[in-house]
Amino acid sequence: MAQKIGVCYGSSTCYTEMVAEKIQQMLGENRVELIDIKDADLASFQQYDFMIFGIPTWDYGELQEDWDDRWEDLDEMDFSGLSCAVYGLGDQEGYPDWFQDAIGYLYHKLKNLGADLKGHWPNQGYTFNESKALTEDKSEFVGLALDDENQPELTDDRLTIWLKELRLLQ
Ligand SMILES: Cc1cc2nc3c(=O)[nH]c(=O)nc-3n(C[C@H](O)[C@H](O)[C@H](O)COP(=O)(O)O)c2cc1C
Repeated sequence: MAQKIGVCYGSSTCYTEMVAEKIQQMLGENRVELIDIKDADLASFQQYDFMIFGIPTWDYGELQEDWDDRWEDLDEMDFSGLSCAVYGLGDQEGYPDWFQDAIGYLYHKLKNLGADLKGHWPNQGYTFNESKALTEDKSEFVGLALDDENQPELTDDRLTIWLKELRLLQ
């Protein structure tokens, strides 16, 4: 329980940032450091026992702009053995054909860089057509999917369950 946790997010209209702050409150300010991807020292990620990455999907299945700006910088990194998990913000009613695509892009990017990814999440309880955030057999999301537009009342419970499954919360 005494691990050092980094929560790195990009956020255009603050939703993903607010979830990062919520995670910090839930896990404790002394354990969690918040990192905006905009000015993140990517090499510092390896100093954490666990990294949580937060990414919203924008513009019909695109990366949020700050993640987009740092996307190629990530390719220079070696995240071998780094334990991490991804959460995303999206809008299943407004963008049902691109729901949470960015979770999928980031998950596969981190995996290719050697990271040890955890935190798959059930895809029941959502209504959407397509998502690039699904596992190959489409049975789960590869990270935690949050939708504060349509299901804000579910966010706290989803976070609690996910953090417990990651064994970051008792
Ligand atoms: C113009 C626009 C495009 C969006 N495109 C998508 C999308 O393709 N897929 C999706 O799941 N959500 C989409 N969303 C919803 C955002 O991901 C959602 O509002 C999210 O909470 C934004 O997070 P942020 O405030 O941290 O940037 C879009 C929202 C807007 C306003």
